[in-house]
Amino acid sequence: MEGEDNINWGVLPTPKIIQHREKLRPTYVPEVLVGRDHQYGKLVKAVLELVEGITILPHMIYGSSGSGKTATMKVLQKETHRRTNKNVVYVNARTLKTPVLIYTQLMKELGLPTKIGLGIPTYLNNIAEYVTDNPTLFIIDEIDGIIDSSGAKELYPFIRFNEIYPNVPGGNFGFMFATNNMDVQIAISSFTDYKGYLEEVRFDAYGVEEIYHILHQRVREALIPKTFDEKVLHNLSEKIFYQHNSNLRHGLQIFALSCDEAEKKRRDSVSREDVLIAEEEHMLSELRKQMYTEPIITLFVIRAITQSIIEDGGIDRPDLYFLLNPKNKESNYAIPEQYATGSDTYLNRQIYSVVRDLEKQFMVHLKQKNVYKTDKITWCSSSDPKEVLELTKKIMEEKKLVTTHS
Ligand SMILES: Nc1ncnc2c1ncn2[C@@H]1O[C@H](COP(=O)(O)OP(=O)(O)OP(=O)(O)O)[C@@H](O)[C@H]1O
Ligand SMILES: [Mg+2]
Repeated sequence: MEGEDNINWGVLPTPKIIQHREKLRPTYVPEVLVGRDHQYGKLVKAVLELVEGITILPHMIYGSSGSGKTATMKVLQKETHRRTNKNVVYVNARTLKTPVLIYTQLMKELGLPTKIGLGIPTYLNNIAEYVTDNPTLFIIDEIDGIIDSSGAKELYPFIRFNEIYPNVPGGNFGFMFATNNMDVQIAISSFTDYKGYLEEVRFDAYGVEEIYHILHQRVREALIPKTFDEKVLHNLSEKIFYQHNSNLRHGLQIFALSCDEAEKKRRDSVSREDVLIAEEEHMLSELRKQMYTEPIITLFVIRAITQSIIEDGGIDRPDLYFLLNPKNKESNYAIPEQYATGSDTYLNRQIYSVVRDLEKQFMVHLKQKNVYKTDKITWCSSSDPKEVLELTKKIMEEKKLVTTHS
């Protein structure tokens, strides 16, 4: 519930640092956009053209994760609502289970009745009929969620909407898409089919100063005055730039965790040490999330565990322990608890075979997902758990699978 952070009937300790937690959340729509004048200007221009009744090209927004695409589109949505007669619908395609659901989702957003299985042409007809009377701007975020980048054919109906429905006035609809997926970006940019059909808008990665400005503004709004040091924030901004690919979501998450850490210690301002602890915690939570999407990392971690069991005769790695937790329902690969500790050889051999089984499961999993054959993957054969964990961190940073040998 929005605002619930502020509920306090005098029985809870008064917060010492954060007063508006929602402002540190990555989903919070900022009041002011920092350093995106050019990109925002381009999108506003398109909306103004629509208002004039001019047909616009679909806009395709590219930019790495945390570069402000969603924030910019949300601000555009808000301002378009406020200032024009255009209806604006926003859908995040990542949340859809299958590509065809994009149509029913858009219809739902428009308030149209939907039925599964009517077929794309019927859905499109309904949408076309609707926009004939109600001019609408469609914003589809994380478009890679429904695109097969080998042809990106799923985009056709939207990109060629005015060809399919020549009778719908051009100023009555506009499409804006966004993606952080490089493969999709490269694919679309190189398809001759899309040349001249799309207006590309690029969100370059932020520099240190921009990161600092954005964080500073949010932190100032969220925190009780004088609870943070500008130097600490600057230091974090540099880290976000150098180690997190300028991902502002990470910046905000790490800073929020730092505040929690400082509050937990009952301090009244955030220190560099709090940020260090928060970074570690954030890294692990990212790793956890990644485990379920990138099995290869899980495999590395399992290798690390196997090695530490075999070499040290037990596991003393709380940072990896979540993998071993049999209650961890999200993981199909949890190692049963009874195998997690113990130094006797018989048990170790058992553990080893369990891990071998897990690895086999992974091979099958990878084969099914067709990532098995990609040349991006080479098995990490390091026997040092620390090194393996370092490697997984590196992979996460680079957002791709790297090749290593030891
Ligand atoms: N220029 C900006 N001004 C103010 N806040 C910003 C700006 N850019 C990013 N942010 C904030 O940083 C966080 C991450 O940005 P956002 O979610 O828009 O990134 P994104 O490009 O959509 O990333 P992804 O590709 O992962 O979806 C958000 O909380 C957003 O409000
Ligand atoms: Mg986004």
